[in-house]
Amino acid sequence: MALQGALMWICSLAVLSSCAAQDETLQCGYNSLTSNLKEAVECDSWSSEERAGLLLNLRNLRDKLNRLQLRECQGAEPNKCPQAEVPEDGGLLCTTVSDKRYCKPMCNHGYDFSFLRRSRVYEECSEQTGFKWQSQFIGGNKLAVCNKAHIQVSGAASAYFSEDQDCLTTKSNSSLIESAIMGGFMSELRSADVQGEAENSCLLCG
Ligand SMILES: *[C@@H]1O[C@H](CO)[C@@H](O)[C@H](O)[C@H]1NC(C)=O
Repeated sequence: MALQGALMWICSLAVLSSCAAQDETLQCGYNSLTSNLKEAVECDSWSSEERAGLLLNLRNLRDKLNRLQLRECQGAEPNKCPQAEVPEDGGLLCTTVSDKRYCKPMCNHGYDFSFLRRSRVYEECSEQTGFKWQSQFIGGNKLAVCNKAHIQVSGAASAYFSEDQDCLTTKSNSSLIESAIMGGFMSELRSADVQGEAENSCLLCG
């Protein structure tokens, strides 16, 4: 049974490279692929070559998914604003309100901002900022860096993902994004008197 699952999984991986839209349910079906991947975590009978082959396929898949993921915010208004960089080991939460783009860098549990930003939860890019990101960090489109740390003190409490809900865990659960993460960001914006409807909201994971 386990072997059958494993074989099915290898098959799924093998066809990923030729993942074509016309056969989406068969080749790219999210549910079957996800359950095969979860099952495969329990397998440890791979040969050395198989392990390397799987790592190779997973690396290709991971690279591709990351590229696609980072494009999810593309085209957000105001489109003169460059895309802010997503911190590694964290995430970037962005939204547009009244033609102003706001992005909030966040760190995963076990990581802390390299730069004190407790009183500065998010950054802005708008006509008023010359369509550049205002940032205390070295500037450019990099808003923050998350470094490995035992304690998390440099940012506001809401700027950290919890231990069991890192960026990807959160992003894969729509109710978590809506309630905890996006809801919190919206109330932070409202309390800074940012009024209006939120558009092009997205969470990108580094
Ligand atoms: C999403 O998160 C909520 C709140 O933590 C949790 O109750 C629910 O089981 C999660 N859903 C999935 C599919 O993991």
